[in-house]
Amino acid sequence: MKKRVAILISGGGSNMVRLVEDMADPAHPARPVLVLANDPAAGGLEKARALGVATAVVDHRPFKGDRAAFEAAIQAELDRVEPDILCLAGFMRVLTGDFVRRWEGRMLNIHPSLLPKYRGLHTHARALEAGEREHGCTVHEVTAELDDGPILGQARVPVEPGDTPQTLAARVLAREHLLYPAVLRRFAVGDRRPVFL
Ligand code: GAR
Repeated sequence: MKKRVAILISGGGSNMVRLVEDMADPAHPARPVLVLANDPAAGGLEKARALGVATAVVDHRPFKGDRAAFEAAIQAELDRVEPDILCLAGFMRVLTGDFVRRWEGRMLNIHPSLLPKYRGLHTHARALEAGEREHGCTVHEVTAELDDGPILGQARVPVEPGDTPQTLAARVLAREHLLYPAVLRRFAVGDRRPVFL
């Protein structure tokens, strides 16, 4: 039985697209059952529909900071499709410990840095400011600590002379698109050995 995957997004959803495309392989151990966005304007929603994946929106704004209620609404959408695995793919809301614990061991995230370096936002600018020669991305299991949890894969890129946060972000994103599908394939069969690209 294929594992059922729900993907949570906030924006363009390029990582989500790569995950869904990879799961189109009949030999893939998982399949997408839902793409959920916290923003009705998220560009990834249309892309998911075009790929034939069910979508849902739980706009965080009407909840006015009541994160427990926001997450209960997300959980209600998830309950309809009963995913085995949650993939955060550019999902830009911080989840509460309660939600994370409920999904612990079944929830992955991709973060645009070589964790444990540069948790949080503006990772590319911070890596440049620090004079890093190398940067990259990490897929990890989600635990209650922000951008923490067991590392399931990392991909490295060189920092080039003249890089801006934008050029560096584009180089990292291209690696994200390879790393996340590679990790999900392993994770879906219970293989937590990290992938290094
Ligand atoms: C990706 O670079 C992802 O690593 C990052 O947001 C981007 C989403 O792009 N995630 C985070 O910063 C999470 N804290 P996408 O919507 O095109 O996949």
